[in-house]
Amino acid sequence: MNAERKVHIKSFGCQMNVYDSHRMADTLAPEGFTETAHVEDADLIVLNTCHIREKAEEKVFSELGRMRVLKEAAARAGRRVTIAVAGCVAQAQGDEIVRRAPSVDLVVGPQSYHRLPALLARAKRDGPIIDTEFPIEDKFDKLNPPSREAIRARGVSAFVTVQEGCDKFCTFCVVPYTRGAEASRPVVKIVAEAERFAWAGVREITLIGQNVNAYHGQGPDGRPWPLARLLARIAQVRGIARLRYTTSHPCDMQASLIAAHRDLPGLMPYLHLPVQSGSDRTLARMNRRHTRADFLDMIARLRAARPDMAFSSDFIVGFPGESEHDFEATLSLIDEVGCAGAFSFKYSARPGTPAAEMPDQIHEHVKSERLHRLQAAIDRNTAAFNARCLGRTFEVLFEKPGRYPGQIVGRSPYLQPVQVMASQSWIGKVAGVTITEAGSNSLFGMLASEEQAVGD
Ligand code: 5AD
Ligand code: SF4
Repeated sequence: MNAERKVHIKSFGCQMNVYDSHRMADTLAPEGFTETAHVEDADLIVLNTCHIREKAEEKVFSELGRMRVLKEAAARAGRRVTIAVAGCVAQAQGDEIVRRAPSVDLVVGPQSYHRLPALLARAKRDGPIIDTEFPIEDKFDKLNPPSREAIRARGVSAFVTVQEGCDKFCTFCVVPYTRGAEASRPVVKIVAEAERFAWAGVREITLIGQNVNAYHGQGPDGRPWPLARLLARIAQVRGIARLRYTTSHPCDMQASLIAAHRDLPGLMPYLHLPVQSGSDRTLARMNRRHTRADFLDMIARLRAARPDMAFSSDFIVGFPGESEHDFEATLSLIDEVGCAGAFSFKYSARPGTPAAEMPDQIHEHVKSERLHRLQAAIDRNTAAFNARCLGRTFEVLFEKPGRYPGQIVGRSPYLQPVQVMASQSWIGKVAGVTITEAGSNSLFGMLASEEQAVGD
């Protein structure tokens, strides 16, 4: 056993990074590292970075400036602090990071996290190390599983990565370059991880991947299984009450997956389905491979399979060549779908992607103005959706103590936080809650019946 050291891991960007950060912590635990939420106490600082938009990337370098000050102060006090940069900026920029931020000791790409202990030892001995390879071996086989205590501390809802990478090559997106080609994990490994989570008290699993519904991992029968079959298998894991998956591409919504929404009661009726734009002209230039009508047809088929289905999406404003007319098509799509929620972004030109080279880049002030209007449309739809929840009774999975004493908070099937006055003993349980009030970010409700807790 090594001497005890502290690691502070800071995640930027998507849920995949949150999952990866947990797995890095699990892999460092046997090396004597315990996690700390306080960066000043850390012997090792890991920044798990995001490269999706320029702003995300800039955040990393300003954060590294702060870390350098901490590192120098610790050195003056005779303490060595190691700084590691992981994630997609690490993958995309490699040694450029050390050139711009010489206090960095290690740059490690997302496919090499299982090598962290060895890389840290080498960095200590030989100075800055860069590892951004795509190794042949499966990192998931080598990453340490989390302890029961670590799982518990992370809550009753957990992410499990089932695939990584993307082969879609949307013209604005860096993911196919930073996370590489689509690769799916085998079913047995995912099921084993779900069982381990359930054993530690997890009640909800979200299967994650950059293009999760392109999943085609090897099943126990040696054949590729689609996501629908994987979901049905995980639904059988004892203790798992709820399932979700994210993020999906509309073109990979196969009939079997739509049917899963009809057939699996534990599969939540809420789908994040990024569409990016409501204009066919823009969708084609984005290389999204579907039209507005295809998307609306998909939504209709999902609603036919599960009438209480609701949707969230991602939208980009100011894609090169986007006219006012194109933008208005995006606004009208939000209303036509009645999105329960959505993320919206100003287009950010990423070096090396085709859209960065397109003519007719949109001025910043036009992007800002469109983003403002888009967000207003989203907020209006979210408020209308929340208002429609009033008086309905939802199954809520209680997650933690609420905002005020005596309150606990859980999530509705639609991921809305629901605050309820109830005993903490409900945490980790699913119970019916009647919604009595809808705020802008949370719902408030009452337990429908004290006897209703399911899955004790
Ligand atoms: N500029 C703006 N938004 C982007 N996204 C991906 N790449 C870019 C970019 N270059 C958005 C998309 C995607 C989400 C994760 O980030 O909407 O769905
Ligand atoms: Fe990026 Fe998603 Fe398009 Fe893949 S499908 S290139 S991850 S936006």
